[in-house]
Amino acid sequence: MQHFNLILLLFPLLASAFRFNSLPFGPDGNLTLPSPTLTPDFRIIFDLGQRVAVGPGPWGQRNWIPFTGGRWVAKWGAGTIVDGGQDSQVVIGDLSARVEPTYVLKTADETPAYILVKGLGWRTGRNEVLQKLGNPLLADTVKPSEYKFFVHVQMETGDVRYNHTNTKMWIARGAKLGSKVVLDGYVL
Ligand SMILES: *[C@@H]1O[C@H](CO)[C@@H](O)[C@H](O)[C@H]1NC(C)=O
Ligand SMILES: *[C@@H]1O[C@H](CO)[C@@H](O)[C@H](O)[C@H]1NC(C)=O
Repeated sequence: MQHFNLILLLFPLLASAFRFNSLPFGPDGNLTLPSPTLTPDFRIIFDLGQRVAVGPGPWGQRNWIPFTGGRWVAKWGAGTIVDGGQDSQVVIGDLSARVEPTYVLKTADETPAYILVKGLGWRTGRNEVLQKLGNPLLADTVKPSEYKFFVHVQMETGDVRYNHTNTKMWIARGAKLGSKVVLDGYVL
């Protein structure tokens, strides 16, 4: 109990100089694990179709955004996006958008491989910036650096040529540019 109170008292100090290996866990606080790194790994450019506004459901304003095509280049391949992918997004009260895209990459090989991609992320930022982004007439005036758009990406394939994608994890930074979305993926 006393320790707990001490931790609460120290919390502002801990937060200002957060280091894993100085946390008050006793001997376990001394542990140093290797830090993850982010290595540039792919860029995907999506062509967006007409947004379908599903309406204000129990979780927020639901939008369905079909992908009509697109291209991708990775360190380990390149190709196109199969028609029929989509982002099902929910816009909440402060206009932050939770995105959950699902789509299939087709590789440019003579016998193509197909890689299913699932993402989960948020687009957040100042209210006036998000308002502009949501307005097709003003969206292009917003610079990608004015908002955050981070997506956690996972892939799945049965094709052994690309099976390394099954076990990797990516963090991607997105930007909405007119009728396109650009997604830069960094492998962990
Ligand atoms: C923490 O690590 C240092 C350096 O490796 C060691 O000297 C010290 O005894 C450790 N402390 C605890 C509480 O395990
Ligand atoms: C990929 O497939 C090869 C050949 O079947 C296999 O040896 C390897 O373990 C697989 N790797 C992953 C990550 O699934």
